[in-house]
Amino acid sequence: MSRHGVGPVTVQRAFDRLAGEGVIDAQPGRGTFVAPREAPAAGDFAWQSGALGAGRVSADALGELVSVPPVGTLALSAGYPPPELQALPQLAAAMQRALRRPGVWDRLPPAGLEPLRAWFASEIGGGFAANDIIICAGGQSAIGTAFRALAEPGAAILMESPTYIGAITAARAAGLKPVPVPGDAEGVDPDLLGAALARSGARVVYCQPAFANPSGAVLSAPRRAALLERLASAGAFLVEDDWARDFGLDGPPPAPLIRADRDGHIVYIRSLTKSAAPGLRIAAIAARGAAMQRLRSIRTIDDLFLAGPMQEAALQLVTAPAWPRHLRRLRSALRARRDHLAASLRRQFGAASLPLVPAGGLHLWLHLPPAVSDRDLAASARAAGLLVSPGRPWFPAEPTGSFLRLSFAAAPPDALDRGVTILAGLVGFDRQAEQTVFT
Ligand SMILES: Cc1ncc(COP(=O)(O)O)c(C=O)c1O
Repeated sequence: MSRHGVGPVTVQRAFDRLAGEGVIDAQPGRGTFVAPREAPAAGDFAWQSGALGAGRVSADALGELVSVPPVGTLALSAGYPPPELQALPQLAAAMQRALRRPGVWDRLPPAGLEPLRAWFASEIGGGFAANDIIICAGGQSAIGTAFRALAEPGAAILMESPTYIGAITAARAAGLKPVPVPGDAEGVDPDLLGAALARSGARVVYCQPAFANPSGAVLSAPRRAALLERLASAGAFLVEDDWARDFGLDGPPPAPLIRADRDGHIVYIRSLTKSAAPGLRIAAIAARGAAMQRLRSIRTIDDLFLAGPMQEAALQLVTAPAWPRHLRRLRSALRARRDHLAASLRRQFGAASLPLVPAGGLHLWLHLPPAVSDRDLAASARAAGLLVSPGRPWFPAEPTGSFLRLSFAAAPPDALDRGVTILAGLVGFDRQAEQTVFT
């Protein structure tokens, strides 16, 4: 500890890692020793690529999004609130209570722990019940499950554009062909969606009606009604990803679309990872009818059932009085960070760079001058110690412009300012002339 100037937890972690890698050998009661070294036999895996054939999908962009940032970088690319805004003390207490529950390590129904399902159902309202819910290991798993349950490989899937990288990747991994449907600050355009349903033959649509990631759009009331009509007349499903339900910063978001859906056109997804902590891999899918039976089959085939302690901890967390207090505190911190980052960006890049300051969510969608490459700018920012997400992978097909997604949740105000100053410096340095676009 004194040689490296680190604390006991870091030393313990280092020891655990060395033991895991077989470098040291901890012998209880005797001490810790350097393990005898065995040189691993070098294998030749080149044959594997030939045997595997062409890969269906690359998860690189998604992997980059969830990767742990190197120490010392400012990660405005993050998709989750940082540790100081996570429900870590509440989760620790919830997990302790969970582990004392009788039968916590026992088998569970494939659809999940009944009272947890009932909680998710009550959050939707509108008569939904535990039987309409399946628990999944996070929103990403729920999206993949929904796509595989609702469409056969080779089919088209409509996606509001831009949209969540993980949904585009999951669609491709399920063998589906993403077809973009443009939207604006009021969300996806129902007329364009109706035309795309007719043209593509798609029977599944993916959409985030509240604080869409990355654009921040909220589906307007007239468009909600029109969207439900289009789905009904086309006989299509909509996968409603309600990932930001807890992140209404200027008031709660509109009710989930599924509440107004009588005939089972909507398959609804709600995850707890963003508002609790990334490691609480718990989400719910709500559906009714034959779609629910298909979803249940996939969950059973994939996992049999999910770990009891995790489900029980989620239940203990969201039913404790500390949960609404945590959400209030989280929202108030996020509101301050959003306002700060938005003001800072508009100051440095001009108001046109940020046409929409979203009423919720975690991100801002920065419009760059067309001549500034999002990828080049993100790469230069990375070299300067700043991580941002380039806009291109957020489009199911060709991007409509050059964008960056910046997480306002990621850092306190002074660090957000630092990030904006780095970006503005890079854009000014690279593209002095294009600055006029924003003035
Ligand atoms: C729109 C959206 N949906 C779903 C997810 C998946 O999150 P998780 O699997 O952690 O619940 C994310 C994560 O970034 C997201 O942004």
